[in-house]
Amino acid sequence: VPALNKLAQAAGLKYFGTATDNPELPNAEYSQYLFGYAPQLFGQVTPANSQKWDATEPEQNVFNYTGGDAIIQPALNHSMIARCHNLNWYNQNPEWLTSGTWDNATLISILQNHIANVVGHYKGQCYAWDVVNEALNDNGTYRSDLWYDTIGPAFIPIAFQAAAAADPNAKLYYNDYNIESPGAKSTAAQQLVSSLKAQGIRIDGVGLQSHFIGGETPTLDSQVANMQAFTALGVEVAVTELDVRVSTPATDAEIAQQATDYATTAQACVNVEGCVGLTVWDFDDQYSWVPGTFPGYGAADLFDANFTAKPAVASIAQVFQSA
Ligand code: G3I
Repeated sequence: VPALNKLAQAAGLKYFGTATDNPELPNAEYSQYLFGYAPQLFGQVTPANSQKWDATEPEQNVFNYTGGDAIIQPALNHSMIARCHNLNWYNQNPEWLTSGTWDNATLISILQNHIANVVGHYKGQCYAWDVVNEALNDNGTYRSDLWYDTIGPAFIPIAFQAAAAADPNAKLYYNDYNIESPGAKSTAAQQLVSSLKAQGIRIDGVGLQSHFIGGETPTLDSQVANMQAFTALGVEVAVTELDVRVSTPATDAEIAQQATDYATTAQACVNVEGCVGLTVWDFDDQYSWVPGTFPGYGAADLFDANFTAKPAVASIAQVFQSA
């Protein structure tokens, strides 16, 4: 197995990492790849679900860190860094939060209390926090959701301020999809960064999720230009949820194209000063989120369902080795 994290670091990045989820950890072979080969293969972990609101505050003001700790602790013990995910989202919120009718002041205090507690618990353990996740529509307007509809756009600076107060050392990120190449949504995310900075609110990074479709991924030039548009604003960028789905059953040609596509995004990050690392959204096809969400698509990860490396592993390694 190529030492993707070590090669990424030799190429100037801080890390190459993966998302994971708690139900996968008892699989001994999976854990060997995730933690046993760390920090050579993967040097960074993101919990895919267990730090989200429904997991961490299932009842109002009752906090549960069991699932998150079960990922973050072994990661730190294996000399990996953690990207922590996420503090504010429209999705995966608990019933008590989504079914309540909250006035503006109450919802703000609920948001501040959640962030103070969760970020406080993980203080010193997270390289970065995805503070606000997916707040924009594809046309660049704000998403209508429980936060925006009651608090308005101010929920975003409020969330970042609360996170900054709770952990001065964690990098604070805005994280979204369809902002990996220039366009209305990427422009809106850049305006969000500028607006936060103009208000004196700390934001340190932008996460480019990068859930791509084989053969349809943005070109190297457009990914580089897009990353540079963010870093020019004084934030770092990271590829936070990379995967490349193809129609299933996948042909050899699709898997070869996928290897090219993974390499393109790795190359973009290497090319941009201020792109700190890449995270794949889990690494083994048997645990990919893709088939459950996009029927007819899958085979999106670096390893097949039997932990055999697909061509993308070598193509990414090649990018790092050539840097
Ligand atoms: O927790 C329940 C469990 O009790 C139940 O038995 C089971 C039955 O289906 O469902 C479990 O919840 C699932 C949850 O993952 C935890 O496994 C949900 O159905 C499922 O929808 C949920 O999917 C997650 C998805 O976010 C939700 O939108 C994926 O695992 C997770 O990888 C995915 O991650 C998101 C990022 O956070 C943000 N960017 C997009 C990315 C992919 O969708």
